[in-house]
Amino acid sequence: MNKGLFITFEGADGCGKTTQIRMLKDYLENAGYEVVLTREPGAKGLGEKVREILLNYDGIVSDRCESFLFLADRAQNIDTIVVPAIKEGKIVLCDRHIDSTVAYQGYGRGLDLERINMLNRLATDGKMPDLTLVFDIDVETSMQRVGKNKDRMESAGIEFHNKVRNGYLEIAKLNPERVKVINGSESIEKVFENVKNLINKTLHI
Ligand code: TMP
Repeated sequence: MNKGLFITFEGADGCGKTTQIRMLKDYLENAGYEVVLTREPGAKGLGEKVREILLNYDGIVSDRCESFLFLADRAQNIDTIVVPAIKEGKIVLCDRHIDSTVAYQGYGRGLDLERINMLNRLATDGKMPDLTLVFDIDVETSMQRVGKNKDRMESAGIEFHNKVRNGYLEIAKLNPERVKVINGSESIEKVFENVKNLINKTLHI
């Protein structure tokens, strides 16, 4: 049986990671791997309900409440989807994970980074990704790609999204072994070439 692997995808809204995950899933399945696709927030069931609140609730949501909702969804994703699949030797591709909370609630909202790291550890029970790809694009391009129909998080403003972007770059600097930055403003094909190169190195194929 293959050793399970946990790969997470991060970046600004509109950075193109969701397209890349789908392409990578097909690529890995064609190479004979069993792949599980999941996302945060809202992989399925309970998580989808939490996602609905997080992205569409139009009343006041305090920054701490927002963090706990993302963390609650994370615990459910880890316990019911990620860890069981890894135990079965599958490759888990997760659209957003711990670094989103560090980038958005930590660097973006300004909550204490040490506390967020501690809460992340509680939510994941210490399970860390083997590899994290951050798709980096400038905020202007990101907001153009998102378009007019913005959800609650996407509507948080240019200044907030600049902080998030810089937060991701800082996370990558602090975790050079695990976190790799990919230029997300290149063509879909070129970005995917870079994704494949990094994945092949990790899988030794
Ligand atoms: P997405 O699934 O379309 O990427 O949207 C999820 C939104 O939630 C996105 O704006 C990033 C945000 N988010 C956080 O602020 N903190 C988190 O921990 C996670 C997982 C997502």
